[in-house]
Amino acid sequence: MSFVPIQEILAGKCEGKQISVRGWIFRKRESKKTIFLLVRDATGTIQSIVKEGTPAWREAQKITIESSVTLDGVVRKDERAPGGYEIPTQQMSIIGLAETFPITKDQSPEFLRNVRHLWLRSRKMNLIMRIRSEVLGQIHCFFRKNGFIEISPPMFITSACEGGSTLFSTKYFNNDLFMTQSAQLYSEVLIYSLEKVYTCAPSFRAEKSRTIRHLCEYWHVEPEWAFADMDDVMSVEEDLVSYVCQTIVNQCSQELEELGVNTERLLEVQKPFPRITYREAIERLQKRGFDIKWGEDMGYDEEKVLAEEFKEPFFVFDYPREIKAFYCKTYKDQPEIAMSVDMLVPKVGELTTGGAREDDKDKLIKRIQDSGLRVDDYNWYIDLRRYGTVPHVGFGLGVERLIMWMLNLDNIMDAIPFPRTPRRFFP
Ligand code: 4AD
Ligand code: MG
Repeated sequence: MSFVPIQEILAGKCEGKQISVRGWIFRKRESKKTIFLLVRDATGTIQSIVKEGTPAWREAQKITIESSVTLDGVVRKDERAPGGYEIPTQQMSIIGLAETFPITKDQSPEFLRNVRHLWLRSRKMNLIMRIRSEVLGQIHCFFRKNGFIEISPPMFITSACEGGSTLFSTKYFNNDLFMTQSAQLYSEVLIYSLEKVYTCAPSFRAEKSRTIRHLCEYWHVEPEWAFADMDDVMSVEEDLVSYVCQTIVNQCSQELEELGVNTERLLEVQKPFPRITYREAIERLQKRGFDIKWGEDMGYDEEKVLAEEFKEPFFVFDYPREIKAFYCKTYKDQPEIAMSVDMLVPKVGELTTGGAREDDKDKLIKRIQDSGLRVDDYNWYIDLRRYGTVPHVGFGLGVERLIMWMLNLDNIMDAIPFPRTPRRFFP
């Protein structure tokens, strides 16, 4: 027997036809002689009506919320039915009769995260997961179309990329290793062979701060390419983010509408994005009453206020060297300034960090030492500057932050199926 996806029925392709569907019971309402069931599959929900006296009646009486089921009948158009169609049901068989389902109406986000393994069946999570899949797909499309080769970085690593405070350590047989924070140093290796590379892989951060935008495990998109400068970084970032916004509006219009996402806002994401220097950002913040001086890092509060001024993605570039990582290249005539750039977006703040990498061996060694790191740990990385060094750039974008911003989610945890935070690591 073949089963029809519910979406096809809702699209009007099955009116008057005898069909079978399979799925799970989403709602059940009974009157004396009729049982109304809402049945969902991966694609949508449809109303099934079971009348007393039909072969389906006994099964319908027994059936519970979230039971799995197959049913058949002739599709009928009815304005009153949710979605405009319904199935007067003749036959029904229960595949798995569900126990009392713990999720009922109006439960707290905290409770829903405790039963995440069940909550992922909800329409909201179904829609977000569909869009997430499309976002990932379009990111891959973008880089492949633009000549970047996908590479696969290691997850177990020996030395930090983004500073020791957020490193997870792990036992690796008799060695103490770490979980990767960024593929960057490994991507830099591969540009000497492939020139333009990218990764889309998990990164791990032991972030103790509990915020709406931090995860301990997130998906990280990181391109890296040779013979390029700061302007190239910003230009590729603009292209990527606007490409994803435009294509998602195209590919996921129905999902976005159901989630109540304002698609105009996404369509307006077009290059060029405004660009301001770190110095200008600090001056703007001081005017807004922030007690922040040149040389200090911006936190979420600062980023949020700046982002509200722009109402769209924008860049902050040329940061003080001291607040950026050891690998950042500095200007010849301004060694205290790093060629580093962040993209900020409303609500989320920082969406990307990127820039030019120090390509001079001696300067790199000095930066490693000044950062309190052991040169020996980075010898393989320094080798890249010993053998045919080239100017090169790259950036990192957090996939869940991108989704959070695009869908206007209240918490980054809803942008990933199984969020990991300091307190949450199950299911
Ligand atoms: O700013 P970050 O730490 O930069 C790097 O890791 C560079 N090595 C990237 C590169 O140049 N290849 O991280 C990059 C992005 C951030 O802008 C943010 O979007 C995301 O990764 N990110 C997180 N997302 C969720 N939870 C966290 N704890 C995150 N930490 C960083
Ligand atoms: Mg950053």
